Amino acid sequence: MSTDQLRALQLERLQWTLRHAYENVPHYRTAFDEAGVHPDDCRALSDLAKFPTTSKADLRENYPFGMFAVPQAEVRRIHASSGTTGKPTVVGYTARDVDTWAGLVARSIRAAGGRPGHRIHNAYGYGLFTGGLGAHYGIEKLGATAIPVSGGMTPRQVQLIQDFRPDVIMLTPSYMLTLLGEFERQGVDPRATSLQVGIFGAEPWTEQMRSEIEERTAMHAVDIYGLSEVMGPGVAQECVETKDGLHVWEDHFLPEVIDPLDGTALADGEEGELAFTSLTKQALPIIRYRTRDLTRLLPGTARPAMRRMQKITGRSDDMIILRGVNLFPTQIEEIVLRTAGLAPHFQMVLTTEGRMDALAVRVEARPDTTPQRRAAAAAELVSAVKDTVGVSVACEVVDPDTLERSVGKLQRLRDLRAR
Ligand code: DLL
Repeated sequence: MSTDQLRALQLERLQWTLRHAYENVPHYRTAFDEAGVHPDDCRALSDLAKFPTTSKADLRENYPFGMFAVPQAEVRRIHASSGTTGKPTVVGYTARDVDTWAGLVARSIRAAGGRPGHRIHNAYGYGLFTGGLGAHYGIEKLGATAIPVSGGMTPRQVQLIQDFRPDVIMLTPSYMLTLLGEFERQGVDPRATSLQVGIFGAEPWTEQMRSEIEERTAMHAVDIYGLSEVMGPGVAQECVETKDGLHVWEDHFLPEVIDPLDGTALADGEEGELAFTSLTKQALPIIRYRTRDLTRLLPGTARPAMRRMQKITGRSDDMIILRGVNLFPTQIEEIVLRTAGLAPHFQMVLTTEGRMDALAVRVEARPDTTPQRRAAAAAELVSAVKDTVGVSVACEVVDPDTLERSVGKLQRLRDLRAR
């Protein structure tokens, strides 16, 4: 499809979506009326900017099914995102939505290097989380063989990888690190497995983490992105040929990057908060959903008609403001991984010291790191954070295998500040 054809398709689908939302979801009718806009006002893609944005709070206020645009009997599937505070957000899918989703995950797996006939080990959690079932349906739709392992029971995962010889593995990057530790514990060489491609997502991870995983496993590590409110995994996918950020599947989702403070639309190339409008969803049309994920939009490469999003820097929710300086866990991850002697397992602990906030990075040493090297590594990390982020942190290098391991999404930050 040429870019012109894509834009025309997007406009037609956008006009349908705005009408569908306005006619069937009281929240959108009220929000559009209050903003003084009507679906008929959308004559060009740029008109979308006149419409109000949608936030997680809007979904919570309409808990559980108030944002659904079809009768209950047409909803074939429900998922929910756990949410650490308050009510979960609930999302629904019609039969056609489930099929569209499966098709987009199949497309994503193919862009990652998966092929029909491959065996695919799926260690995303099955359940209300969209990761497990989302990947599963995509694997089947591609014509590959699904191995639905889900998360957890880590020793058995290593056994199954050796016995079933999968070509592709799908899981969070932090759980991949947990699996790598288990390979080592069992004395199995992770470079000698059948795995050729790992499809990692559901949490931020850095280029340094890609190198770490690729070196230790001898497979390609590529990024998959998505969120429940917009669909689940498979909204955007990195192509294995280029590994240069994620192509947004723009025939189904219209991405925008907006200023996180005032919500105004930013130009392609500028960094800000990613927002999505669904173009084909029936059960839960979503208009300008503010993801809180920070990135920028870039021109297409491996799939020229579709724009890419740069690897996510972080969520605005995960941003720590330490003595006036903004800091993301991904910045610490980059530094940890380029410091000799440090393992990729770390935790960030926020405390109050006097009237100030203080941040300590607790990071594991690699098994062969000497005591002298540990001390030097801690000092190097502190000075690298000071130089690149501009703020002082403490660093404690702890013994290998002492920090908590992930089985899904890893919580990097422990906030122990006095309230
Ligand atoms: O995590 C969907 C998913 C499952 C994506 C499996 C990829 C693989 P939620 O639980 O709703 O959905 O969480 C969505 O996770 O807004 C991002 O903050 C984060 N996230 C997801 N993928 C990536 C990624 C799933 N590749 C939230 N890089 C999103 C960085 C990601 N962050």
